[in-house]
Amino acid sequence: MRVTSPEGVARRLGAETFGRVVFSEEELAARTRAMGDAITEHYPPGEKLLVLGLLKGSFIFLADLVRTIQLPLQVDFLVASSYGDDTVSSGNVRLLYDPDTSFEGRHVLIVEDIIDSGNTLRKLVPVLESRGPRSLEICALLHKRLSKMELEARWVGFDCPDEFVVGYGLDHAENFRHLPFIGSL
Ligand code: IMP
Ligand code: MG
Repeated sequence: MRVTSPEGVARRLGAETFGRVVFSEEELAARTRAMGDAITEHYPPGEKLLVLGLLKGSFIFLADLVRTIQLPLQVDFLVASSYGDDTVSSGNVRLLYDPDTSFEGRHVLIVEDIIDSGNTLRKLVPVLESRGPRSLEICALLHKRLSKMELEARWVGFDCPDEFVVGYGLDHAENFRHLPFIGSL
């Protein structure tokens, strides 16, 4: 039988401890739709949009978001892994999967699950900018607002409390990505 309480769902999905719901399914759905509307309004109609999801955390948000964007678009993904945050050199981000899609003349929209330290994007943005996109913007579901970004996300779903959150794509040791809401453990 399907359980409905957040505690029950979290337990069934394998969480031994459950903190609280930080963003409910309904809040996530409403906010995602509003972001899709804002993105639709931002780009001139008919321009080619390339939505670039950062894996794995963005996969659920991206799937919901693109279905609310009423523009012609293509979807691709990038897997970035940053090793060490000692320097800000762009060589410090390792691309484990890098699409061969051309950026030339296209509006590229990076979709990120959460901006925490901001290091991933801080290193990735110069690499992507060097590929000559027509524009480069960031859409992040959550932002912890811990530091200032050179390229600030144009669209942010929610400011996130500085605690570890899981669900709706976000993991803890690869678990809980399929939690339908965002919660703390
Ligand atoms: P950064 O610190 O902004 O570079 O964040 C890099 C990545 O760490 C994010 O894209 C997430 O995948 C992950 N991350 C950061 N904070 C959290 C969290 O609270 N829960 C789950 N994953 C997180
Ligand atoms: Mg992660």
